[in-house]
Amino acid sequence: MITTIAKLLIGTFMTLMAVHNKPLSNREHKAPVYTSAAIKDPFKTKAFEVLDNKCNVCHGKRNRRRVFTMDNMNDWSTEIYKQVFIKKRMPQGKKIKLTSDEYQDLLTWISSLKTN
Ligand code: HEC
Repeated sequence: MITTIAKLLIGTFMTLMAVHNKPLSNREHKAPVYTSAAIKDPFKTKAFEVLDNKCNVCHGKRNRRRVFTMDNMNDWSTEIYKQVFIKKRMPQGKKIKLTSDEYQDLLTWISSLKTN
C-alpha cells in the first residue's frame, strides 16, 4: 500500500517536473531574437517597438496608410517628431500614452538619424 502511494507520488512529481521544464526550454529558444537589423541598429529597433505597440495598434484600424514598419519608419521620422514632440497630437486620444522611456526611445532614434 505504502509503496503504491509512494510510486503515485513520484509519478506525479515526475510529471510536474516534465511539465515545468517544457516552457522553460521553450523560453530559452524564444529568448531575445536578435536579427541582424537589430544588432546593426538598436535605436531603430527600440523605436520600432514603441511605434508598433503604441501607434500601429490604432493606425492599423484608423490610419491604414501610416502603419509603421522597419522599412518605412525612417521616412516618417520627421513627421513623427512633429506629431509627437512639437504638436503633441500623437498618440491620439486619452487611452494610449507613452512612458518617458518610450519618448526617450523615439527621440534617441530620431536624433541618431540626424547625426548620420
Ligand atoms: C488612437 C489612435 C491613434 C494612436 C494611438 C496614434 N495615432 Fe497617429 N493618427 C491617428 C489618426 C486617426 C490619424 C489621421 C488623422 C489625423 O492626422 O489626425 C493619425 C495621423 C498620424 C500622423 C500623420 C499626421 C499628418 O498630418 O499627416 C502621424 C505622423 C502619426 N499619426 C504618428 C503617430 C505616432 C508616432 C503614434 C504613436 C506614438 C501615433 N500616431 C498614435 C490615430 C492614432
